[in-house]
Amino acid sequence: MGNGDFSKDGGAEHTITARDVVVRFGNILALDNFSVEVPNGIVGLLGPNGAGKSTFIKTVLGLVSYDSGDVRISGMDPRTDVMAIRDRVGYMPEHDCLVDTMTGLELVTYFGRLSGMTKEDSIPRSHEVLDFVGLGEERYRPTATYSTGMKQRVKLAQAIVHDPEILFLDEPTNGMDPLGREEMLELISRIAASNKSLLISSHILQDMEKVCQHVIIINGGRAITQGPMSVLLDQGRDRKRLQVRGDPKALLAFTDQLRKVREVISVSEEFGQMTIILVNGGPSAPLLDMAKLHGVQVRSYAPDKLTLEGAFIRSVTEGA
Ligand SMILES: Nc1ncnc2c1ncn2[C@@H]1O[C@H](COP(=O)(O)OP(=O)(O)OP(=O)(O)O)[C@@H](O)[C@H]1O
Ligand SMILES: [Mg+2]
Repeated sequence: MGNGDFSKDGGAEHTITARDVVVRFGNILALDNFSVEVPNGIVGLLGPNGAGKSTFIKTVLGLVSYDSGDVRISGMDPRTDVMAIRDRVGYMPEHDCLVDTMTGLELVTYFGRLSGMTKEDSIPRSHEVLDFVGLGEERYRPTATYSTGMKQRVKLAQAIVHDPEILFLDEPTNGMDPLGREEMLELISRIAASNKSLLISSHILQDMEKVCQHVIIINGGRAITQGPMSVLLDQGRDRKRLQVRGDPKALLAFTDQLRKVREVISVSEEFGQMTIILVNGGPSAPLLDMAKLHGVQVRSYAPDKLTLEGAFIRSVTEGA
């Protein structure tokens, strides 16, 4: 993957650009020359715990200051355009932003007022967004009594109350049950369909695979991979997955022989079945003949199609 950038959307409009951004917390280098171009649409910011996802979001919002580099969001500078950014951007934080004693309705109304809405506008609009996120009569109860799923819904509602163009959702499906997660993903898709841009941080890759059009993988404070989801998943094309069964000795002899003629990336064994990942190339007939010669049964030989999880592990472990 070269420098990890397989993006070929040079002409696309970018909502956010970051160049060589460095953020330090004491001795911790949270963002290490972090550079990305975030296009419109639903973009996943993916990375392991401590990778720097939340730090990047807070940096763009002007909540964390950076030591060097440059950040732009819709052409605005988080260092100087704080109020303008607040108007046009919604933020669903990772951790609670709820005031325990306030009801869901009061809280969303309050955030609406903070974004400059009048009380007369903010109350009906709050009902509208609470309906949208699927919070019913619970809106009249203090948020301290909410389940995790309800809290996530209110957090989303407060992020969209002022109808922002760009949304940052930090771990929006965290702690939700499978049905709740599906509903949250559906809400995310519906928001995007109304021409909004979303940057979503997550490590729940199955969720992100369903909704994101574009992916940024971050590890150790650096953007190691970025580009369209379809291109990322297509990278499996350069690899083949061979599954064989047989006597352990025969399998061993076969893989030894195979390594001499083909580039073998990995070999793993489970319940007497061996999975071998090979670099693509070369005809399959000699390989099948070799298996026959060793008394090894070929179960399948096919492109190693990547899931987002596979692509993620490949990027993080192979350094992309
Ligand atoms: N306010 C802070 N003070 C000190 N260190 C911090 C602070 N915020 C973040 N860090 C450190 O910066 C690094 C990146 O943290 P960050 O919260 O951005 O990671 P993340 O990718 O969001 O992780 P997670 O998936 O756990 O939410 C971590 O080493 C973290 O401990
Ligand atoms: Mg985080």
